[in-house]
Amino acid sequence: MNEKICRLKQEKDVVILAHYYVDGAVQEIADFVGDSYALAELAAETKHKNILFAGVSFMGESAKLLNPDKHVYMADLTAGCPMADMVTAEQVRTIRKKYPDAAVVCYVNSSAEVKAESDICVTSSNAVKVVKKLTQNQIYFIPDSHLARFVAKQAPEKEFIYHNGYCPTHRSIERNLLLEAKQKYPNAPVLAHPECAEDVLELADYVGSTTEIIRFAKESPAKEYIIATETGVFYQLEKENPDKRFYPVISPQVCPDMKKVTMEKIANVLENMGSESCPEVILDTQIMERAARPLEKMLEMAR
Ligand code: 13P
Ligand code: SF4
Repeated sequence: MNEKICRLKQEKDVVILAHYYVDGAVQEIADFVGDSYALAELAAETKHKNILFAGVSFMGESAKLLNPDKHVYMADLTAGCPMADMVTAEQVRTIRKKYPDAAVVCYVNSSAEVKAESDICVTSSNAVKVVKKLTQNQIYFIPDSHLARFVAKQAPEKEFIYHNGYCPTHRSIERNLLLEAKQKYPNAPVLAHPECAEDVLELADYVGSTTEIIRFAKESPAKEYIIATETGVFYQLEKENPDKRFYPVISPQVCPDMKKVTMEKIANVLENMGSESCPEVILDTQIMERAARPLEKMLEMAR
């Protein structure tokens, strides 16, 4: 299967971009693996004619928005993000009327329609930096209430208004379960994603995006870690640190949508690329123009 995928990738001029939450086998055949920010940057810069995204829908949509002339395919078009569905374009229009002075800051985990109504996008790795640079004092942060609270703490000069979105996978990593894990592994620092709840992040030794968690574990001298994010990151953590041990808080810590991405589906897309049945990201042209702006602004401001 690996050989077939490599051959088709070359023949059809495809770059495969994968998120750290997909299965290890898929990460292995990808050209690049990264967090949401790195993947958006790579998608914006790629010279390949076709992009195949091993991740969830908002990632493929972002790649298409940043590359309107390229073909962007998903391993599975039904792989979505429940958090992204927790805010609608209509809600953003209402928010704008209610808070006319607020900057609408949109986590990249959102639909193209919602991005089109927002001022700027952020990812977990650049949210603090971008928010601090905004001229507006009032920030309406959509959709993730947990990431919003994490950012608000580091930008106390801003006034935050919270939406009520959350990631079900990260919310299932509860404080009492983390306390149990800490008791079991008392020497292991806790590395957590900012999509975890505030009372979980209070117990963390380090909070960062998937890339930042992986970098921290590599550079830190500790020999064992408790990891409070999706289980896919264990693949890179273990690959890059064979002498270290990584423990989840709960078992399994799984995003079911990320697990819809399989080697078979990747091979199928490569084989059928160009045919009607192939899962290509198609977006409304009018939405595309408006939705690309906050993403491009993010890339500029985060640099
Ligand atoms: P990052 O990879 O940017 O940390 O985001 C995690 C995530 O939830 C992707 O859905
Ligand atoms: Fe969405 Fe959470 Fe899955 Fe990330 S881990 S894609 S935020 S549901």
